[in-house]
Amino acid sequence: MSAYNIAVIPGDGTGPEVVAEGIKVLNAVAGPGGLKFDYTYYDLGGERYRRTGETLPDSVIAELRQFKAIYLGAIGHPDVAPGILEKGILLNARFALDQYINLRPVILYPGVETPLKDKGPEDIDFAVVRENTEGLYAGAGGFLKYGTPDEVAVQESINTRKGVDRCLKFAFELTRKRNRAKKLTLVAKTNVLTFASNLWFRAFEAMAPQYPDVTTDYAHVDATCMWFVKNPEWFDVVVTDNLFGDIITDLGAMIQGGMGVAAGGNINPEGVSMFEPIGGSAPKYTGLQVVNPLAAIAAAQMMLEQLGAAKAAAAVEAAIKKTAANDMQSMAAGKMGLSTSQVGDKVAKYAVEMIK
Ligand code: IPM
Ligand code: MN
Repeated sequence: MSAYNIAVIPGDGTGPEVVAEGIKVLNAVAGPGGLKFDYTYYDLGGERYRRTGETLPDSVIAELRQFKAIYLGAIGHPDVAPGILEKGILLNARFALDQYINLRPVILYPGVETPLKDKGPEDIDFAVVRENTEGLYAGAGGFLKYGTPDEVAVQESINTRKGVDRCLKFAFELTRKRNRAKKLTLVAKTNVLTFASNLWFRAFEAMAPQYPDVTTDYAHVDATCMWFVKNPEWFDVVVTDNLFGDIITDLGAMIQGGMGVAAGGNINPEGVSMFEPIGGSAPKYTGLQVVNPLAAIAAAQMMLEQLGAAKAAAAVEAAIKKTAANDMQSMAAGKMGLSTSQVGDKVAKYAVEMIK
């Protein structure tokens, strides 16, 4: 029996509803999977900020370091100015815990509709490895002559060789581990970003010989947006910087059937990782039991994988696929034909049946 202490941050809006379904599924597979979970809930998000002015206090960060993993619902509140919660909680956690990888699988589950004509589950199955602590997210820059007609705003992209190398290494290893087309595509903008993308390109070329079994490829980020739509089957693993990764994974989420199914992991392979559905807090649906919990459940599945609970993870993945294929009319909020909680019930039931 393996025991795991998990920090749970349900967060804002529909976060708590979808997290409840993920926990339901984790609890269902715990017994048959020989796992034990101890959850500690943290009240973080817009409500707490409005009450106390706190986002993610240093004392909480210190506590979060003690857990095996963090399970996050959503952060974002309609009455809090944009940026405060995102920077104060989500980015703060990613940076403080050095979660330098943002892993975002783009998988079209069977039975799920994609907006791409003539593409099916065999065409859309890749992973984006997004650098998660540097680039334009590093917060380097500033204003000159703020608020005047002569104002200047500078925002710098920070790319360290160490930061790029550790991200590339994760991506090469993942490509090997997936053992599919074994193709790793670097996405950047070498034709314009002749410093930042140049560093990424050189680091990529320098590392490639260590992975002779992996085919390497390069695509500009704008062209990547085109290929994701036109030929998603060309991709196996994509590695890119923080902002490019942010942008292309929203596109990735759409081709896999929408925000209701897209999950991500903020991973520190040597530390504490945090798993989340990437769809946001969807405030207008709060409490209505209409949002799709599959993304949150898929995030829990990624957490199981990271914890080394491979059998439970495989069962949850199979159960998600079965639920999507057999029981749901749509992946969109309010159109599933089931409530949020009923979707969780189905996945939990199938996962228990399928765990080996
Ligand atoms: C994401 C989100 C965040 C990001 C925001 C909320 C800060 O868009 O996880 O992709 O830009 O990383
Ligand atoms: Mn994003």
